[in-house]
Amino acid sequence: MKIIVTMGRGGTGKTSFVSMMADYFIRKGDAPLLLVDLDPDQNLGEMIGVDLEAEGRMTVAELLEDTFIGKGGTTVGVAPSDRIEHRIWRDGLYEGKSFDFLALGTKWVEGCYCMPDAALRDALSRLTKQYMYVLIDAPGGLEHLNRRVTADVDEIFDIIGPSSKSFAHLLRARRVAEESGIHWKNFSSIGGFLFPESLGERAKEINEIRYLGKIAQDDEVAQRVIEGLSLIGLDHNLPGPDSVRLILQAAGY
Ligand SMILES: Nc1ncnc2c1ncn2[C@@H]1O[C@H](COP(=O)(O)OP(=O)(O)OP(=O)(O)O)[C@@H](O)[C@H]1O
Ligand SMILES: [Mg+2]
Repeated sequence: MKIIVTMGRGGTGKTSFVSMMADYFIRKGDAPLLLVDLDPDQNLGEMIGVDLEAEGRMTVAELLEDTFIGKGGTTVGVAPSDRIEHRIWRDGLYEGKSFDFLALGTKWVEGCYCMPDAALRDALSRLTKQYMYVLIDAPGGLEHLNRRVTADVDEIFDIIGPSSKSFAHLLRARRVAEESGIHWKNFSSIGGFLFPESLGERAKEINEIRYLGKIAQDDEVAQRVIEGLSLIGLDHNLPGPDSVRLILQAAGY
């Protein structure tokens, strides 16, 4: 099992990248695949064609609330991590033909969830073991990831925005990831679809951050996002999916 986390600043193209990455692994036959949306805005579902609510699925935040606060008390002899794991399998996980999908959701009240956080991390570490790849869409800081999901990941992909200032952000992002206690095997940068090709050389010179290439601007991708259509199954010869394939091959996938 490998955990691949995609992070980066707002609007750099994280969610569309995660969707096209899922499509790449599906085409390669690298299954089973789990997609995890850590974004409170929950955009990933739409881009992979899954409406969790319509599917009768609950977010992990809703399940935590329901299991530990709504229902109150404890079930004697059942560990909190077992209780939440059971709920996630039963009520949270969307199980599709080519991938499974889970959203963390919105209803977090900081400071109130220590016990569920620990239980959730335990439960998720067992649950994710069933998969070949776990792809995480992780906007914002990674402390969220560390506290609730996992501290150990294989890859961090940081998507770089369109300005030369983005390099400072990249270095800061890595430091913040370090400080939040995340351990990774590889930390790589990827040019976002608005990242100028001409800055690629500079991106390659950054120490210890491998630059994997740039996501191509793709009108079909933009159009599908506007229309709320899935990016799974997009013609893989299009610039977007083709660039994602090259990036993942450069990363060794
Ligand atoms: N490869 C691409 N080519 C052209 N447009 C794209 C591409 N990828 C994404 N976009 C456009 O950029 C917008 C932002 O993309 P996306 O939602 O993937 O970014 P994000 O980093 O996940 O944003 P957020 O920080 O809000 O979660 C989309 O609405 C889409 O229209
Ligand atoms: Mg997003």
